[in-house]
Amino acid sequence: MEEHVCPWWIGYVLVNPLRRIMQNPRKILSPYIEPGTVALDAGCGMGFFSLDMARLAGPEGRVVCVDLQPQMIKALVRRATRAGVIDRIEPRICGKDGLGIGDLEGKVDFALAFALVHEVPDAAAFFKEIHAALRPGGACLTAEPKGHVPGRRFEETLAAAGRAGFEVAGRPEIRRSHAALLKRA
Ligand SMILES: C[S@@+](CC[C@H](N)C(=O)[O-])C[C@H]1O[C@@H](n2cnc3c(N)ncnc32)[C@H](O)[C@@H]1O
Repeated sequence: MEEHVCPWWIGYVLVNPLRRIMQNPRKILSPYIEPGTVALDAGCGMGFFSLDMARLAGPEGRVVCVDLQPQMIKALVRRATRAGVIDRIEPRICGKDGLGIGDLEGKVDFALAFALVHEVPDAAAFFKEIHAALRPGGACLTAEPKGHVPGRRFEETLAAAGRAGFEVAGRPEIRRSHAALLKRA
């Protein structure tokens, strides 16, 4: 099924600093990222989470940032350069049929999929790619906006993650979001 992809100009709304009052990236992500972490920000948009991921991962870490829309990646690169963390960011533009992260197999410690899964055409295929990229013991935090995604649909998303080999290891509280921490089963 073809899903609605958020228009690229919404990217500017999503990086509005006021969003940090509701969803502070550092607070949300610090349990999962430490210096040296290899992280993946899938559907990164203009990098609302990516910049703090890069700060938490430090100069020894790296954050692979993947998005479908070149405008999102272009703005992410600009913002990361201004923030002085571009050396730890690896920007990638993907196609509709997958993230194109086969080269990362077993290398990623932590993956984030924030406000993304309701936009991907095949959630199970998406989670399979993430699963393959994670090292054993790696984790994926997935969160979906409560306004757009009913609870029932989020449970379907988690079922798709289950079919891809994940189990739910936690349900972190994130404002205005359904959220789950997924671990490789
Ligand atoms: C609602 S935005 C969320 C952006 C960011 N994660 C955040 O929370 O600010 C969804 C993003 O996912 C991207 N996207 C949609 N479908 C995608 C796909 N199949 N593969 C990769 N990125 C995708 C969109 O271009 C958009 O930047």
